Amino acid sequence: MTDSWWKKAVVYQIYPRSFADSDGDGMGDLRGVIDHLDHLAELGVDVLWLSPIYPSPQDDNGYDISDYQDIEPLFGNLAVFDELLAGAHARGMKLIMDLVVNHSSDEHQWFLESRSAKDHPKRDWYWWRPARAGMEPGTPGAEPTNWGSVFGGPAWEFDEKTGEYYLHLFSRKQPDLNWENPEVREAVYAMMRWWLDRGVDGFRMDVINMISKVIGEDGSLRDGRLSAGAAYADGSDSFIGGPRLHEFLQEMHREVFEGREGLLTVGEMPGVTVEEARLHTDPERHEVDMVFQFDHVWVDRGPDPWLLQPLQLTALKAILGRWQAGLADLGWNSLYWNNHDQPRVVSRYGDDGPQYRVASAKMLGTVLHLHRGTPYVYQGEELGMTNYPFGGIEDFRDIEALGQYRQALDLEGRSAEEVLTVLRARGRDNARTPMQWDDSPQAGFTTGTPWLAVNPNHREINAAADRADPDSVFHYYRKLIELRHTEPAVAEGDFTMLLPHDERLYAFTRRLGTTELLVIGNFSGEPARAEIEDAGSWSSAELVLTNVEPAPVDLTLGPWQAVVYRRAVRP
Ligand code: GLC
Repeated sequence: MTDSWWKKAVVYQIYPRSFADSDGDGMGDLRGVIDHLDHLAELGVDVLWLSPIYPSPQDDNGYDISDYQDIEPLFGNLAVFDELLAGAHARGMKLIMDLVVNHSSDEHQWFLESRSAKDHPKRDWYWWRPARAGMEPGTPGAEPTNWGSVFGGPAWEFDEKTGEYYLHLFSRKQPDLNWENPEVREAVYAMMRWWLDRGVDGFRMDVINMISKVIGEDGSLRDGRLSAGAAYADGSDSFIGGPRLHEFLQEMHREVFEGREGLLTVGEMPGVTVEEARLHTDPERHEVDMVFQFDHVWVDRGPDPWLLQPLQLTALKAILGRWQAGLADLGWNSLYWNNHDQPRVVSRYGDDGPQYRVASAKMLGTVLHLHRGTPYVYQGEELGMTNYPFGGIEDFRDIEALGQYRQALDLEGRSAEEVLTVLRARGRDNARTPMQWDDSPQAGFTTGTPWLAVNPNHREINAAADRADPDSVFHYYRKLIELRHTEPAVAEGDFTMLLPHDERLYAFTRRLGTTELLVIGNFSGEPARAEIEDAGSWSSAELVLTNVEPAPVDLTLGPWQAVVYRRAVRP
């Protein structure tokens, strides 16, 4: 695809359940999104990505789909969807769908048929396997492999009716589709073409690097590594970046995207390496436009999952610097701090206390948006929304938090407090509390009872307040997005990391033709001086943007300050 319009674009992610509720049932819906399209247009984003809105039992908040070609009644119907799509397009915004095809819901018709009988023609659409050799089916340890599921418990569910197990890398209500079967692939491609024909502008592809599994000659899957103290093994060697992944993505491209223009495809790929991402995003190979990698959001995760690691800025810079360098001449990066699976970045890598919340949210935005790649803004990030003050496990709704909690306490001997400490800081529900529109009792999200509690800080942190305040995070994000649209060096310039050993300052330059930008962000509550070559000349360069007045003197940044300078250079 020669048409890489998305290099200049900013994407905004909507988690529909938590965005805006138009009918008072406590659950966000598509009409609610329509009602707030002007907020998004004013922010200036180019693309909206909707987390899944298809019919679903909502076991994993819609990432368990029971019908790929309709709309979940809680959210609306196809007519409202068409209205939303038209409303986005009328405002110059594109709209991409979440494509969740590593697995379906166990309530999808395909799975109901598959599980009905061993000889059903759709049996092989999912991963059915007999019990481990020599073991009684359905007894502990008889699962075909020792893999754990991401949400706790084994990755296999025993099915009484046919005496076999099916694979589910996520919840037992999310059986993995068998991509080895060409009928499965053709059904998925047909469904994707149906959405594109309807007018959608592309897809964000959920855990798409897990669709190909390593299979033995006899059709078996192999055990994974079991680490000390863990109840189940990590089977990811057998399903992350599996042997046929590139082939499947190229086939999808041929069958779905070839000959269509103006689309965006982004593959969510936990555990992907830079080398693999170069292959996935090389335009000549026709796979996807960009991938979501995870290294920079796993930087504060140590070998022990239930021990919090503080952020080490040098490690974060090494990771993002490696991704910038790796995709400099080939392929393309996506850039994100937040999504519906990550805690709020201002609480995680910034300072969400009253003194520095606004400054640090803006600093984090500056550093991210000035990288080379396509930035993603997650709902509420443009307001500097924070983590939620969770108490006990009863405050959480996320299937991952609940499942991992049970496994850690029941099978792995962890204490509730140790697990809760990590869930409070890192749990996915932090991102899923309702969008804070105003200071009214339910933050303007709903007139009913929200499905997940509204953060009490909505009295201060909300869209109405931010829109009214020219110094808000919202208006600063508008400037960042605008800068990508108007300054070609932001979109296209090359990237050079500076000060790799500095634990407080994140600094880099971007350069395109005769324009050079210097970006510095202070990741600390102390003043810090950028000891870079050329500091004198940069100090007198044009200041394009700063989040904290006054501008630094002699490149000494205040607490959580960020700056962007611009100067002319010889080509
Ligand atoms: C992705 C989604 C996450 C979901 C999982 C299973 O990682 O982002 O929310 O739980 O896939 O579909």
